[in-house]
Amino acid sequence: MGRKSLAPTTMLFPTPVVLLTCVDERGKPNIITLAWVGVVNSEPPMIGVSIRPSRYSHGCVSRAREFVVNLPTAEMVRKVDACGILSGKETDKFASLGWKPVPAEKVSPPLIDECPVQMECKVKEKISLGSHDLFLGEIVALHVKEEIQKEKGRIDIAKALPFVYCPGAHEYWDLGKSIGHYGFTKGKP
Ligand SMILES: Cc1cc2nc3c(=O)[nH]c(=O)nc-3n(C[C@H](O)[C@H](O)[C@H](O)COP(=O)(O)O)c2cc1C
Repeated sequence: MGRKSLAPTTMLFPTPVVLLTCVDERGKPNIITLAWVGVVNSEPPMIGVSIRPSRYSHGCVSRAREFVVNLPTAEMVRKVDACGILSGKETDKFASLGWKPVPAEKVSPPLIDECPVQMECKVKEKISLGSHDLFLGEIVALHVKEEIQKEKGRIDIAKALPFVYCPGAHEYWDLGKSIGHYGFTKGKP
């Protein structure tokens, strides 16, 4: 089969899909769906999120320098997509999507109760890249629902029900099944 060159674009698939919560200058919470997201450091634990300056949430994160990264389940996919179309400028997304805000421990933006995992972050750096600004956030508190925890603090992925976004296809996919674990080829490549 041949190979066709395309114009350079961010053809890195899949990416995570997260719900970032933030607050405006009056403390009113908002939610934005993000896919330009990734782990950027282990010690201290840090996450990078890229947000276009035109987003309502961009101003909230820039001012408060705090956010929460909430991981949704596959069952939430329709609302996650809707959250990525609506704007906090004119819509109360917590009310219209029917999600419950829960106070965070160390930051002002709330956690989304329906999500099994929440990471509270404080912004360490903001870097303008072009179309997006990259916010590097240090995770200062982590919450994981008990029902998705296994022994030794491991996550039960079958219960966490994560899903991903595939930019090249503009599609959401679930994770299917496990095909190995970290280091399982040690001594037998
Ligand atoms: C799957 C998906 C991924 C998205 N990823 C990003 C992203 O990484 N960065 C961004 O600025 N906008 C992203 N968006 C768009 C915002 O979620 C969308 O513009 C949203 O309405 C902005 O909300 P706000 O105006 O309340 O901030 C994404 C939307 C969807 C549906």
